[in-house]
Amino acid sequence: MYILAPSILAADFTCLGEQMRMVDEAGADYFHIDVMDGNFVPNISFGIPLISSVRKATKKPFDVHLMIERPERYIRDFYDAGADLITFHYEACGSIGDTIDKIHSYGMLAGVSIKPNTSVSVLKPYLTSADMFLIMTVEPGFGGQDYMDVCTDKIRELRRMLDEKGLGADIEVDGGITRENVEYVMDAGANVFVMGSSVFGGNIQENVTYFKELFDGRNRS
Ligand code: DX5
Ligand code: ZN
Repeated sequence: MYILAPSILAADFTCLGEQMRMVDEAGADYFHIDVMDGNFVPNISFGIPLISSVRKATKKPFDVHLMIERPERYIRDFYDAGADLITFHYEACGSIGDTIDKIHSYGMLAGVSIKPNTSVSVLKPYLTSADMFLIMTVEPGFGGQDYMDVCTDKIRELRRMLDEKGLGADIEVDGGITRENVEYVMDAGANVFVMGSSVFGGNIQENVTYFKELFDGRNRS
């Protein structure tokens, strides 16, 4: 199932709720919410108060991407703020398995993310416990960067690892996904697509409709 997850980091914060309603009505599946702490990544974005506030704007799932050190400290807080899915970074977490279990204990879905320089082999112990794996296709911290093609083989390798075991976990990609490269990345094996600039840049409804028509077409085939 192909899923569109617009990243609100690229939205106009002066009318964030309005833009989220627009994206929701146009058919987006998730909202991707990029939380950055200025430690794990060299940027600070937003946090729990903003998520609690925009929770009222839509019923679509919140896919919260924690680019923060020691994310296990905040699972309950993001649950209370309205997260439906929490993805944390392998590189920032002491105990991956325990953190996945903690996310599940609140009834949320758990995702594990790796940066471009981290090998997919580190994910092997979690293939049967995590619900989603996020392959970063840019260095985390900023929207509007170019897709790193060096990450495409990681997507292929991870999909092969999951297929070999008959596992259907989602593979999410995040960073530099555009109309020009999205089908190439779909063919590599990703099925959840984070898009910031490609959705919030230009005509939002038209952008969402374009990608949803592409994904729905593939979902039917
Ligand atoms: C970067 C974030 C991405 C980013 C995507 O650290 O994790 O979600 O906002 O933005 P685009 O689609 O513009 O690369
Ligand atoms: Zn992200």
